[in-house]
Amino acid sequence: MIYLDNAATSFPKPESVYVAMDRFARHSLANPGRSGHRMALESEHALSDARHRLNRFFNGRNPERWAFTLNCTDALNMAFKGVLNDGDHVITTDLEHNSVSRPLVALAEAGRITLTRVPADSGGTIDPEAVRAAIGPKTRLVAMTHASNVLGTVQPITDVGRICRERDVLFLVDAAQTAGAIAVDVQAAHIDLLAFPGHKSLLGPTGTGALYVGPRVTLRPWREGGTGGDSLTPTQPTDFPHYLEGGTPNVLGVVGLVAGLDFVEARGVESIRRHETELCERLRGALAELPGFEVFGHANEAQRVGALSFRCELLPAPEFAGVLDQSFNIAVRPGLHCSPYVHKALGTAPDGLVRVSPGPFSTAADIDVLADALKQITSV
Ligand code: ALA
Repeated sequence: MIYLDNAATSFPKPESVYVAMDRFARHSLANPGRSGHRMALESEHALSDARHRLNRFFNGRNPERWAFTLNCTDALNMAFKGVLNDGDHVITTDLEHNSVSRPLVALAEAGRITLTRVPADSGGTIDPEAVRAAIGPKTRLVAMTHASNVLGTVQPITDVGRICRERDVLFLVDAAQTAGAIAVDVQAAHIDLLAFPGHKSLLGPTGTGALYVGPRVTLRPWREGGTGGDSLTPTQPTDFPHYLEGGTPNVLGVVGLVAGLDFVEARGVESIRRHETELCERLRGALAELPGFEVFGHANEAQRVGALSFRCELLPAPEFAGVLDQSFNIAVRPGLHCSPYVHKALGTAPDGLVRVSPGPFSTAADIDVLADALKQITSV
């Protein structure tokens, strides 16, 4: 099988991820922060080490401000439901995944917040000045993706972050498609809240993610419960990260996430990004030679992550991907990619597009096999 669906989740993981998780599960997987015995301390140490690693990787202010979550959606919900108050105005964009847009639309429909959605240009980029223009006296938060999961286009978050800081508005970045794929510096980009999954470009397992909570943010805990210490406190202890981490954390997953991060750091974020975007450009070149294909998203390779979406006039995207899967054993993701607004703006709803997303282990030969399959499908 040729796996080209790394934007949904990366596969395979580096061998070191499987090895680290297997070893940890067999020898050290106790309940962190509870019990105080040797294995419990090893688990606690693994979590603490991971927070330090994330804090260094993303240049955070404090390791304690990284709360582990189930995935990126969980982190985003934790942020929105913890931060927003009745009457707040929120700015978001057309490029968002449902993990950002659904919680915000639900709050807006309940009359709790007002919402402005800034459109992207035809190449899939947000203009920071359009965000500035949307800020009003009640704006509390700007929430935007770092890269479109449909188009792979990277957004000017540093410029938007600067505007938010100038206007004293909180800035949340959804790094679902960029954490591990492109350098993110939360301080340089003025990010107050960073949400990301561990299972995509950080090469960890599913069931992992984190939310970074910067020093300007006060929020309510979204998931309350046991934290291991401070059991007499009737409500959630207020110290980070326990404030946000009720319940037994996915320490095994976090160990896998750190092993993935080791791999990413050793190979280099930029080198992985370049590898993946070069494969996308190879595909773009092949598509240009074939009749009936239309590719979406701007072509500036330096401002892209490894995802390329196209449609073919012969077949709707879901059928096209079905043929790739059934007849050629090639895995891609078709449809709307849980991001309906960008597809509506592009005029590609309801069938959507075929998205191809190579990973660090994908090869030029994989892309050539895909290109050959596309040729065969269109020459029938
Ligand atoms: N958000 C993931 C994707 O884009 C699952 O496919």
